[in-house]
Amino acid sequence: MRAVTWQGVEDVQVRDVPDPGIERPTDAVVEVTSTAICGSDLHLYSPLGAFMEQGDVLGHEAMGVVREVGSEVTRISPGDRVVMPFNISCGNCHMCRNDCYAQCETTQVREYGKGAALFGYTKLYGHVPGGQAEYLRVPQAHFGPIRVPEGPPDERFLFLSDVLPTAWQAVDFADIPPGGSVAVVGLGPIGQMSARIARHRGASQVFGLDSVPERLAMAERHGVTAVDTGRENDPAGLVRDRTEGRGPDSVIDAVGMEAHGAPLGKAAQAMAQLLPDGVAQKLMERAGVDRLAALHLAFDLVRRAGTVSISGVYGGQADPMPMMDLFDKGVQIRMGQAHVRRWTDDILPLLTDADSDPLGVDDLTTHVVPLDQAPDAYDKFQHKRDGAIKMVLRPHAA
Ligand SMILES: NC(=O)c1ccc[n+]([C@@H]2O[C@H](COP(=O)([O-])OP(=O)(O)OC[C@H]3O[C@@H](n4cnc5c(N)ncnc54)[C@H](O)[C@@H]3O)[C@@H](O)[C@H]2O)c1
Ligand SMILES: [Zn+2]
Ligand SMILES: [Zn+2]
Repeated sequence: MRAVTWQGVEDVQVRDVPDPGIERPTDAVVEVTSTAICGSDLHLYSPLGAFMEQGDVLGHEAMGVVREVGSEVTRISPGDRVVMPFNISCGNCHMCRNDCYAQCETTQVREYGKGAALFGYTKLYGHVPGGQAEYLRVPQAHFGPIRVPEGPPDERFLFLSDVLPTAWQAVDFADIPPGGSVAVVGLGPIGQMSARIARHRGASQVFGLDSVPERLAMAERHGVTAVDTGRENDPAGLVRDRTEGRGPDSVIDAVGMEAHGAPLGKAAQAMAQLLPDGVAQKLMERAGVDRLAALHLAFDLVRRAGTVSISGVYGGQADPMPMMDLFDKGVQIRMGQAHVRRWTDDILPLLTDADSDPLGVDDLTTHVVPLDQAPDAYDKFQHKRDGAIKMVLRPHAA
């Protein structure tokens, strides 16, 4: 089959790889009809390259049609339309029973001290081949895949794999008081949906901060007050002025380790790319290699005794933190990988009515291209060229 493979830093290629099959009784094989590129894939594309192996199949946002199931998979059958959560969880370990699916103890990658295995996400997360491919082997398929109705186009449901539950969790963790205010830093797909979900769930004031014009415009289309960090000298001051001088009750960091305007972290990431993998891995594990401009902006923005919810992914171990300010302001911080299945039953009913779209998911995808065009799609998405906001690949497009 054809699959998007990582070949080196900023080098992905669509290659022939062996077809997946059932390896365990809890597996399924899904024919992928649509699969998206995520900001998390960009981290693998570039700064986390040291953890990748040549030929790794990328992708953790996929949906399609079940083709084969193992003997212990009874919830789904061949022919079902399904979306795969990006984290692979068993549904019955201690963590899963407590709804902490991103920490599943059955698939947890103990060798590297990490949480649940993820599709298409380096050896640190189980080295499971990803969904940017014609077919996907789905481990723990007795629990994971979400059945969705026939009818609406794939883009209605595809984002149940990651973007929607991640944004839902970001809002949940942000703990916005009823009628309160929130600022979302970063207006990529995660930030867009976090801002819209915050409105949907009752926030009265939602600010969105970014510097990319079409991302600011998209947020404005959905009732978000856009703040252009490229033009505004003091974005935190501007938001404070509009929140009675205090700052918003809650702030969501939807940027992560590749923030613009963080020269030290950028230099460290560039250096890591020049080092042999083993040395670079140690540097990434032990040094402050994240670009922290967005996170520090979040800490500055939030009002005293407010909450910062971090959904952007970070990877350094020695990142400098403004501990005095955080302590003095009394900031609460929550973060982590989304526990996808914990939120999908809340979200699915908001997607199934073809005539209404309360979360605006129909206005997120900017590019739909055949799988073979993945290299160009990665490049456009990384450089935010051609209005790229969310890229969807079709593995079986003619
Ligand atoms: N927690 C999870 O489970 C989870 C799941 C999916 C994605 N993520 C992470 O969420 C983050 C966002 O993902 P995405 O797909 O939306 O990516 P993206 O790269 O499209 O979006 C990031 C946005 O942040 C903006 N930005 C960069 N620096 C900024 C700064 N200093 N101030 C304000 N805005 C800035 C960029 O212009 C861009 O629009 C990534 O780190 C990704 O890895 C986490
Ligand atoms: Zn993703
Ligand atoms: Zn589990």
